[in-house]
Amino acid sequence: MKKNLLIVLLISMVAILAACGGGDKVIVGTDAAFAPFESLDGEEIVGFDVDLLAAVMEEAGLDYELNNIGWDPIFPSLKNGSIDIAISGITITDERNEEYDFTRPYFESTHMIAFYEGTDIKTATDLEGKVIGVQTGTTGQFAAESIVGELNPDLQLFETTALALAALKQGNIEAVVTDIAVAAEFVKNNPDDNVQLVSDAENFEAEYYGLMIADGSELKETLDKALTTVIEDGKYAEIYEKWFGTSPDVETLLNQQ
Ligand code: ARG
Repeated sequence: MKKNLLIVLLISMVAILAACGGGDKVIVGTDAAFAPFESLDGEEIVGFDVDLLAAVMEEAGLDYELNNIGWDPIFPSLKNGSIDIAISGITITDERNEEYDFTRPYFESTHMIAFYEGTDIKTATDLEGKVIGVQTGTTGQFAAESIVGELNPDLQLFETTALALAALKQGNIEAVVTDIAVAAEFVKNNPDDNVQLVSDAENFEAEYYGLMIADGSELKETLDKALTTVIEDGKYAEIYEKWFGTSPDVETLLNQQ
């Protein structure tokens, strides 16, 4: 009798341990130098992506941890399984789609050229002959390369977008090509500077951000479902308004696949 009770106790303890074990915590990676999507406020990672992730994970019922691992490491980390998800203003591209999976799109973007008054830039083709900064391995780099050519010595590669923008502010480079909302945030944060922004719909196409996961990851279905709910139930608009001060075009976003 006593022995049976002990066994029942042991079994329930094991069951409880399994239920709250850290084993099913999802690890999320980001590069927190891309305000307003993700940046550091002291030790804390804050931004639109951070709030959206929280909403999606809550909806999906997933326990998670968000780590600032940097941009380049995101890609191998998804492959070797040291992270399960990446959220980092990551553009869904055909090349990346060959090696990774993405959720449904959650944000429409395009590129902008940021520069200071006095630099003569009216369209993307004016980048030619200028000293340009981009974050390495981003679609901003690819967009700039499509104008000035790969391996152009005037195209400087930075480890983070924040570093490229800092170099622009210091006058070390003449222009930065980066995502529209990040360029707008730079203008907002430097109100006394004469920062100019130029877009060029002919040379810089629209692109969409998604959460990135390993190729074939079973998280895709769960995340897509949760993301759709968050977009449909108004939570997405709430977060969008908090970070961008305007309402999102939810209908266009939902029609994008
Ligand atoms: N959207 C661009 C890309 O996917 C830039 C993303 C950079 N994100 C970041 N957190 N540094 O290439």
